[in-house]
Amino acid sequence: MSPEALDVALREHPAVGRLLSPLGRRAALPFGIPQQSAEAKGCARRATIGQITDGEGVPLALPSIARHFADLDRSESMLYTPQHGLQRLRTRWREHILAACDTPPPMSLPVVTAGITHAISICGELFTAPDRPLVIPLPYWDNYDTIVTMRTGAPIRTFPFFQGARFNTPGLRAVLAELTGPATLLLNFPANPTGYAPMADEVDGIIAAVIDHPHPLAVICDDAYETLFFEPGMYGRSIFGALSLAADPERHVICKVDGATKELVFFGGRVGFVTFSVPGRAGEALAEKAAALIRSTISSGPAPAQSAVLAALESPTLAAEQAHVLDVLGLRYRALKAALDAHAVPYYPFNSGCFCLLPLPEGMDAEHTRKRLIAEQSVGVIQIPQVNALRVAFCGIEAEDIPDLVERLARVIRQPAAGLTTT
Ligand SMILES: Cc1ncc(COP(=O)(O)O)c(C=O)c1O
Repeated sequence: MSPEALDVALREHPAVGRLLSPLGRRAALPFGIPQQSAEAKGCARRATIGQITDGEGVPLALPSIARHFADLDRSESMLYTPQHGLQRLRTRWREHILAACDTPPPMSLPVVTAGITHAISICGELFTAPDRPLVIPLPYWDNYDTIVTMRTGAPIRTFPFFQGARFNTPGLRAVLAELTGPATLLLNFPANPTGYAPMADEVDGIIAAVIDHPHPLAVICDDAYETLFFEPGMYGRSIFGALSLAADPERHVICKVDGATKELVFFGGRVGFVTFSVPGRAGEALAEKAAALIRSTISSGPAPAQSAVLAALESPTLAAEQAHVLDVLGLRYRALKAALDAHAVPYYPFNSGCFCLLPLPEGMDAEHTRKRLIAEQSVGVIQIPQVNALRVAFCGIEAEDIPDLVERLARVIRQPAAGLTTT
């Protein structure tokens, strides 16, 4: 679409125009080489794009590379992907999202990104700017600082993640009430670093807090750890669907970022997705803006990984394979909770995902304690200075080794070294 056509299409969903950053407003795909090549797809002689092929669209792939992708369709896996990603993969991922929704929400087709970080970065570029803050519960995944603030200059506004043992919906309302103009809210469930996702009875309150907010609001649902829910009574799916159904097209754009990284245990594949609560022509226009940002940074995503994810989504054994991983992580989760309780090690509430977060006692510094754990106990964890706590990634420890891990942690956490100060 031309920049003018994009503007016209986006009028169908007025919130988009109200929320776009200056870069988001400029973002448009020029009528460039990929578009001209696509138009010439049916021609007898296609002398368009710079891909080395047999003249029929099959790449002259070097066997030393191609043999590692032997089960994939060579034309799909070894040629450029479209800026939006492989079309069939986009359709399949849409079905994958819809399968988790009771009622189909309004949504665009997903755009394929080079991992979930990239999908968040695209949302940041589209909607944040120095005068358009990002609101996040604290503590949060520290990469949001680099993905958003470092790139777009948007300030981060925080509110405490928990109120007691529950998600802090009153805190969310309070921080939103301080906003006077367009902003972006990021909700990451299951969360990194807390390992918390809402119980079923928490979700209506979160949605109401968003919907009652009177100013334009983009909401990014970071669903990186979707499917890893371990307790009965949890909401147990992304809040994207329910939020999108409740959203007001005048004020809200809900963005879902997710991907193969954790859900399909394909960390290095770098296949993520961004999907907007914007259907029809406006949704196509917003997806095209995302594709323009892709064209301007990585040009197009990695084809072998997209092909492999597509094949996995079409595999009849995928669901059983995912269920197995969930079982393995569930065992680790329960072993961790039992061991923490047995050793009376305090932890923030956690019920999902890959992590738990251990608050440190008064006088113990997170970075110092992390170093002591390496030196004295041969244990590696991550310091979370935002709340002076340690993040434990139980997803990478065998269930049978978890009691030993917690024993080692407890030895240090219970014995603060002399002379330390709290951060
Ligand atoms: C909350 C959260 N979002 C997004 C990501 C990034 O995923 P990816 O590796 O696909 O960029 C991570 C990775 O650790 C994460 O913890």
